[in-house]
Amino acid sequence: MQDKCPTAIAQATEPNRDCGDFQTLYTNHMTCNASLDRTIVLIGLMGVGKTTVGRRLAQALDWPFKDADEEVEKAAGRTVSEIFDDFGEAGFREGERKVIARLLEQPPMILALGGGAFMDPETRALVKDKARSIWLQADVATLVQRVGRRDTRPLLRQKDPHAVLTELLEKRTPAYAEAELHIDAAGGSHQKTLNRILDALNAGSSAS
Ligand code: S3P
Repeated sequence: MQDKCPTAIAQATEPNRDCGDFQTLYTNHMTCNASLDRTIVLIGLMGVGKTTVGRRLAQALDWPFKDADEEVEKAAGRTVSEIFDDFGEAGFREGERKVIARLLEQPPMILALGGGAFMDPETRALVKDKARSIWLQADVATLVQRVGRRDTRPLLRQKDPHAVLTELLEKRTPAYAEAELHIDAAGGSHQKTLNRILDALNAGSSAS
């Protein structure tokens, strides 16, 4: 990857562009970039911040970013909600599996998966084979607060988000736990989460 650190990192650290932050990110970036040659997949429940954090991570590393839900929407010519309405959840999952398999064949990128994608055993196996995986973790109260900002998730439509997310967290935790890195995405801002990811990647790359 070409080195566009100063600009990319300066943007990535907005709005907390204090010197300490900048220095940590910059240092991490330099060491990370040398050893990261595989797609990094972000997994976790709805509302945890996979897309927002993923975009910032991509910017910090100067890598491309893709969101699996957006790619499924492009492929289907419909929104996720419309796909659920027209083909049911099973139809959505089938499309999601194919699109993710295609994305994992592409050159390295930061890839945010929809919350249910990693539950599919084929997708999980493919991610383990071809990518690095990061589970963004948050408690249900934080997730409920964050999902309240958008009304585009069919699994939450006309339901109690707290009840749905509690059930999904319990059901999905064993699969999510298979991710290579587990990162706290609840305590503090998305910027803090990004810093934790960069630290973890950096620690991993210096250990190997
Ligand atoms: C889903 C999460 C959504 C989207 C779909 C199903 C899930 O993505 O893929 O509504 O099963 O958790 P986000 O996690 O990006 O909201």
